[in-house]
Amino acid sequence: MSHQLLKGKKGIISGALDERSIAWKTALACVAEGAEIVLTNAPIAMRMGKINELAKLCNCPVIPADATNLADIENLMQKSMDHFGGKMDFILHSIGMSPNVRKNIAYTNTNYENFLKTLDISALSFHRVLQTAMKLDALNEWGSVVALSYIAAQRTFPGYNDMADAKAVMESIARSFGYSYGFAKKVRVNTISQSPTVTTAGSGVSGFDVFLHYSEKTSPLGNASAEDCANFCVMLFSDYTRMVTMQNLFHDGGFSNTGVSHLIVEEILAGKKGAE
Ligand SMILES: NC(=O)c1ccc[n+]([C@@H]2O[C@H](COP(=O)([O-])OP(=O)(O)OC[C@H]3O[C@@H](n4cnc5c(N)ncnc54)[C@H](O)[C@@H]3O)[C@@H](O)[C@H]2O)c1
Repeated sequence: MSHQLLKGKKGIISGALDERSIAWKTALACVAEGAEIVLTNAPIAMRMGKINELAKLCNCPVIPADATNLADIENLMQKSMDHFGGKMDFILHSIGMSPNVRKNIAYTNTNYENFLKTLDISALSFHRVLQTAMKLDALNEWGSVVALSYIAAQRTFPGYNDMADAKAVMESIARSFGYSYGFAKKVRVNTISQSPTVTTAGSGVSGFDVFLHYSEKTSPLGNASAEDCANFCVMLFSDYTRMVTMQNLFHDGGFSNTGVSHLIVEEILAGKKGAE
């Protein structure tokens, strides 16, 4: 399904760890649509993950950068511009990690050092990327920056822990920075609120299987897959969404606007009957 929607466009894709990553699918989709890309991930993820395999498939360089390190982000932007021979058109921020989630520390008994790390890696990194791109004037007019979010920014999901707070901050950064970047350079900034998706980050959340099932049965269209999300990213990087900015866009098969579905009601009734 290639329409060359990104022909002539150049961009950075962060966060491809393995073939399940949303960023992995997005990198492949962008290249299939005619874009040239640079891949990036944290140095440790580059050693543990499979990003070099993806780089071969996409015929592109990999520039390591820890998203919590400003010098790394500056180096990433500068080297990417050197590689492309000029400014870029899009950036995907697909980065998230919570030490509290990893260590199974409850939200009500949080470790504040971990909490700060969660915010730094998962939310402030988005500001860092935007601020660096603006300072280095790395993006062409009508460029597009997208970050991935989750509905726990608006509604509580047990187990999502401090990542919910990080996503809320990130979505706010999209609005605040999008305002300034729009006036300054006509660059648009949005977040995509994606369905639960089976990836390394996703599966780390406790009760993830139940989340996945519940949202599959609640969403009229079912859960959006990583491939669907990749296609949506392509659209947001393309010229067909030039006037969309400062938005959190739900890409969730209708989950966010459904109270309860008849399928969930039937499951609860069947469970009750079974218990009788
Ligand atoms: N999987 C889901 O259910 C789901 C749903 C909604 C939103 N998201 C979001 O999508 C994004 C991508 O996650 P994914 O599900 O593809 O999982 P993933 O584990 O494949 O990707 C997360 C990436 O973040 C990178 N990362 C972590 N710390 C970093 C750092 N300090 N510097 C640079 N990179 C770092 C990891 O190396 C990894 O590549 C995340 O923001 C996640 O919160 C995921």
